[in-house]
Amino acid sequence: MNKYTDTYMQGAYGSDVNQGSTYQKGMPIFDVDTPSIIVDLDVAEKNIKNMQDFANSQNVSMRPHSKTNKSPYWAKKQIAQGAIGICCAKLGEAEQMAASGIKEILIPNQIVGKSKIQRLVDVNKISKVIVAVENEQNLEDLSEAFVKDSRTLSVIVEVNVGMDRCGVELDEIIEFVKLIKSKNGLKFEGIMGYEGHTVNINNYEDRVSEATKAMNILIEAKNLLVENGIEVDIVSASGTGTYNITSTIDGITELQCGSYIFMDGNYLKIFDDFDPALSVLSTVISRRDDRIVLDCGLKSISMDQGLPEVIFPKGITFGSLSEEHSKCLIDDPQNNNLKVGDKVLLRPMHGDTTINLHDEYFVYRGDLFEESIPIVGRGKFK
Ligand SMILES: Cc1ncc(COP(=O)(O)O)c(C=O)c1O
Repeated sequence: MNKYTDTYMQGAYGSDVNQGSTYQKGMPIFDVDTPSIIVDLDVAEKNIKNMQDFANSQNVSMRPHSKTNKSPYWAKKQIAQGAIGICCAKLGEAEQMAASGIKEILIPNQIVGKSKIQRLVDVNKISKVIVAVENEQNLEDLSEAFVKDSRTLSVIVEVNVGMDRCGVELDEIIEFVKLIKSKNGLKFEGIMGYEGHTVNINNYEDRVSEATKAMNILIEAKNLLVENGIEVDIVSASGTGTYNITSTIDGITELQCGSYIFMDGNYLKIFDDFDPALSVLSTVISRRDDRIVLDCGLKSISMDQGLPEVIFPKGITFGSLSEEHSKCLIDDPQNNNLKVGDKVLLRPMHGDTTINLHDEYFVYRGDLFEESIPIVGRGKFK
């Protein structure tokens, strides 16, 4: 035991599954109190398997991004299916995953600042954490902290593949990697590039051409390094929208996709290779003629990528959201007997930000409650 596992075990749940759930296995999932996020276990498991099978067929590894699920329960299912590890967006999420026993975590983001770097040193004592780097001062700070603790940090260089977020440019990469190699306490393991500006392109041919353009930059970076005698073990990339494009590009070694596990409403608008597994269960708290009001608002479902969609019952059109309410219109009010207390299922357009609002998932098979899963990474954005 150590300070991470101790904290995890003494936390609200103490394990990957909520042992103290008040709900009985086998009860109807619609009996769960609302608003709640519910997940169809069969569908989520099928998504995990299909993505892993696809990656295997392309000879690339899966390192699924846990920024979506934020929970070791799902991460361990992905690893059991064949993933080589996971990604975490934030150090706080990585600490939770490491505490739960996950042994290899890539943070495809920059860890900047004294207190975070010290936490990174500590979490590296229980799990291997690989971090993306792209700034010289950051290299200096990481090196100093790891040397002081007589430890080594594995790093990959983030390359700007056209998203213009973080990342070094092609003409900087050789010097930057040489700098890493000159620093004690750091081990260069490879490169990454996130083609996030292409994952949501509607038209498939356009998505192929833009994602390929982006990945060609990453492969060019790799080739430049190899030509300069530098070994590149990891070439990491991809989001759900580009999984079947990026994985076919020669030189890519692993995929970082995350959303496919539950499949966002927004992704479903452009392709349906994976099935939707997650929805928000809500209750009708008011009905007037052609209008119903639900107990679910901005504090329990996100709308950063658009308004949710009503998936059950049919004949309801989502209207608007306020903090704790949703207004919906009934298409044919005379012939609809929806009443106060009835349950309504909503599909969020963006799973990640909706999941971040909840403490637990309620998972089900068929229509029956299976177990409650703590979302230990929610709110861990530091
Ligand atoms: C660096 C990085 N890699 C991978 C992903 C995975 O994307 P998706 O959720 O589309 O699978 C993201 C998403 O934000 C990301 O920021």
